[in-house]
Amino acid sequence: NIDAPNNLSLHGKHILITAGPTQEAIDPVRYISNYSSGKMGYALAEAAVILGAKVMLISGPTNLAVPKGVSVIQVITAEQMLNAVLEELPRHDIVIKSAAVADYRPKQFASQKIKKTDGFMTIELEKNSDILLEIKNHKLPHQVIVGFAAESENVIDNAKSKLLRKDLDMIVANDISHGDSGFMVDNNKVTILTRSGQSIDLPLQSKQIIARRILEQIQNKE
Ligand code: CTP
Ligand code: CA
Repeated sequence: NIDAPNNLSLHGKHILITAGPTQEAIDPVRYISNYSSGKMGYALAEAAVILGAKVMLISGPTNLAVPKGVSVIQVITAEQMLNAVLEELPRHDIVIKSAAVADYRPKQFASQKIKKTDGFMTIELEKNSDILLEIKNHKLPHQVIVGFAAESENVIDNAKSKLLRKDLDMIVANDISHGDSGFMVDNNKVTILTRSGQSIDLPLQSKQIIARRILEQIQNKE
């Protein structure tokens, strides 16, 4: 557990955090998703409350308990997450997008369970909106926008190009190529990159500690 510091440094700040995966339905019994557990986003929400922030969590399906003092909107799909984020955006000072949004959804939802047949099976997919690109078009000048980048190779270069393309203040580059870091597990290995060109390489450590480090960097920006 992390104690609250004496000066509650995010006191009164409204922070919007997205967490977890999204699920995109194929038929009544199947969906497309990813291995995100939501642990990083929930750790951020908990740490932000401890630092005195007012926290709204927009969460995809997870098995996690919502931390004490955190407000939550539960969503399933990327489209629902987008709508909730755009609705909440104007009320917040800081947005942290740790959710692992599904990039694609089935083009058609089959209202009846799809039966297996001989030969290959093809599901046509269409792209979901990029929520961070939508935020880019709607954000206010004072808002600090923080993204994540899940990368299995060229971690820093790929994260830097996402920082620029999505016009972020900061991006947390997440190396998911090692089993002891990233999706599903309690630890993470990240590098924080800022728009001003800073690069802060954090050691492999718990998502709780990483959350605190990320919030400290955001606070330094404020
Ligand atoms: N993101 C988003 N909306 C999407 C997809 C991603 O807002 N439809 C956000 C994530 O929440 C994260 C950041 O964009 O903060 C980067 O997500 P990531 O999956 O690493 O990057 P993509 O831009 O989707 O590119 P790719 O998956 O091809 O690497
Ligand atoms: Ca993606």
